[in-house]
Amino acid sequence: MAKNSHALFSALFFVLLIGASHAGGGIAIYWGQNGNEGTLSEACATGKYSHVIIAFLNKFGNGQTPEMNLAGHCNPATNSCTKFSADIKDCQRRGIKVLLSIGGGIGSYSLSSPKDARTVATFLWNTFLGGKSTSRPLGDAVLDGIDFDIELGSTQNWEHLARFLKGYGKRVYLGAAPQCPIPDKFLGTALETGLFDFVWVQFYNNPPCQYANGNITNLVNSWNRWTSSVHAGKIFLGLPAAPAAAGSGYIPADVLSSQILPVIKKSTKYGGVMLWSRFYDGQNGYSDSIISSV
Ligand SMILES: *[C@@H]1O[C@H](CO)[C@@H](O)[C@H](O)[C@H]1NC(C)=O
Repeated sequence: MAKNSHALFSALFFVLLIGASHAGGGIAIYWGQNGNEGTLSEACATGKYSHVIIAFLNKFGNGQTPEMNLAGHCNPATNSCTKFSADIKDCQRRGIKVLLSIGGGIGSYSLSSPKDARTVATFLWNTFLGGKSTSRPLGDAVLDGIDFDIELGSTQNWEHLARFLKGYGKRVYLGAAPQCPIPDKFLGTALETGLFDFVWVQFYNNPPCQYANGNITNLVNSWNRWTSSVHAGKIFLGLPAAPAAAGSGYIPADVLSSQILPVIKKSTKYGGVMLWSRFYDGQNGYSDSIISSV
């Protein structure tokens, strides 16, 4: 008996060791804003991504009828995006978390009050998460969570939306994509709730805190501030997957792998790398180049 339990303990210990040696970071990828990037299933079948973030629900709040935009992939208005329900389930079967991103750089969204935040939370729960609605643009697949990519409109009430969404249960994951300057103008207050599981910080289009011309100082200093001062589950280094994917902040894959990842991985908050976007990653092969170092 004692011998057996010792063997069991050894086996468990071995599994934990193996698990730990593979406990590096993941790659989170935004999908949805280019019809030529392939399907969600194809993205997940590459085996490269830990999180897929569907972008975007870009109209909601303040009494507006919510609208989703998935570029050339499908048209939510004619209900042709429900075909992605099977893709979402396929990704989840592979252990990939699938989130819906709300906001984005183009759109019409804001939360006019805490009550409005509750209305939007109820809508998101019924339409994309575990609730029920006659109108589910992504079909009956239950997404793993909601990502806040709030870049315009009002700075107010996002913390209430986070609280209402997390109120549905721990397994509703919350993601956020703040800009690297601290505090983020739109998401700073929401991040203070400590309710976010994944914070993929945009270290691009932000010269004060991004990589530039071979100099990693500003980026590393900013990363250290994020990981030491922002209360979140895991923090991801958000990057453009190709030079054309952002106005500035692209990091050559060899610089990322040899100079930056070894430094930022020292933080226990390190969750991996976020890339904008699946389209550019496909064009540039960026995740192929960095995955062994992530
Ligand atoms: C890198 O950037 C930092 C911060 O702007 C600056 O202080 C430093 O001199 C730069 N290093 C080099 C080698 O240019």
